[in-house]
Amino acid sequence: MNIEEIRKDFPILENNKITYLDSGATTQKPQYVIEKIEEFYQNYNANPHRGAYSLSMEATEKYEETRAKIANFIHARHPEEIIFSKNATESLNLIAYSYGMENLKQDDEVVISIMEHHSNLVPWQKVTKQTGSKLSYMYINDDYEISDKEIEEKITNKTKIVGITHVSNVLGTINNVKKIIKQAHSKGAIVIVDASQSIPHMEINVQDLDCDFLVFSGHKMLAPLGIGVLYGKKEILNKMSPFLMGGDMIEYVYEQDTTFAPLPNKFEAGTQNVEGVIGLGAAIDYIQKIGYDKIHQLEEEIVFYAREELSKLDFLELYLTPSKQNHSGVISFNIKGVHPHDVASILDVNGVCVRSGNHCAQPLMRYLGMDSTCRASFYFYNTKEDVDKLVVALQKAYSMFKKYMK
Ligand code: ALA
Repeated sequence: MNIEEIRKDFPILENNKITYLDSGATTQKPQYVIEKIEEFYQNYNANPHRGAYSLSMEATEKYEETRAKIANFIHARHPEEIIFSKNATESLNLIAYSYGMENLKQDDEVVISIMEHHSNLVPWQKVTKQTGSKLSYMYINDDYEISDKEIEEKITNKTKIVGITHVSNVLGTINNVKKIIKQAHSKGAIVIVDASQSIPHMEINVQDLDCDFLVFSGHKMLAPLGIGVLYGKKEILNKMSPFLMGGDMIEYVYEQDTTFAPLPNKFEAGTQNVEGVIGLGAAIDYIQKIGYDKIHQLEEEIVFYAREELSKLDFLELYLTPSKQNHSGVISFNIKGVHPHDVASILDVNGVCVRSGNHCAQPLMRYLGMDSTCRASFYFYNTKEDVDKLVVALQKAYSMFKKYMK
């Protein structure tokens, strides 16, 4: 498929003549995903796991088939290692409460990176405070990367849990998660990988990584909002207590006590988001049809071009790893002396959508000595013309604001 054909698959790109550069926040959805969700409601909508009638059984079948598809997609050993959640945030809270709260003791350490999204940071503040353990950070160097030395120094015999984002949602840095996992395992710690910003762009193999947990959100990889995944090694998940209590996660309920269902149901209380799961399954079909190699090739061309073109604008401050290879499709920048929300508003008037703000990473912003940035995030449906439009809109914004600058 060429880029023109790909873009035709995304109705919003056809209907709305915008330059969409906020796929790090949420991606646009292909017609195929939209149709699969419609097909579900038109043909087999019913509450899964709860009906002895054929419609409910069909909904159950599609739901469970998708679980197996996802296991296959990330190379998990067993389908029951895939737990459906609302999003990566809920998956991370589940781990923090069910694993962290039960396993951390006084003086243990949880190590995360300074570039974590709040969802892989705030839950650990709560859990470490409550268990008397300590939260410590791996910091980045001047190249916006976590050095091997930092990994070796911060992950010690006291470390019990390591949380790491695979790709930073602010800097686009691709972290050396394999090195982190190796170091953590050598010290007896478990590792949680936040793949929210990586799985849309690159193949994930949980067995090869050997991570203990991995989380992601569907909506950043072409699927609908409100569906997320938690992968966990079966032997660890089996030992954990449920996070949310209610329907379908139980085995027997007595007046005062309850026994819980086996994996994966133990962690999926309440009526399931079948629509979201079907949409996520369709998104995976679509990604596999294009192929990660093609996705990589398309994105590399656009992101390298964007790095080059934005570097030519001397009024911009760019926050970029020097290594093109260690960098995914996210570019944060500021027009010196202008608030990023003002810049984003002018870009919007010119039909260019970027995110502005602290990107749910306030500790990182503080560490870098700033409050906020603008962020352009790219996906395989973006083109060089999108980059050119961004550059022209930035030039317009700069000429508007420069008269107010000292
Ligand atoms: N976490 C999403 C982002 O980085 C919302 O934009």
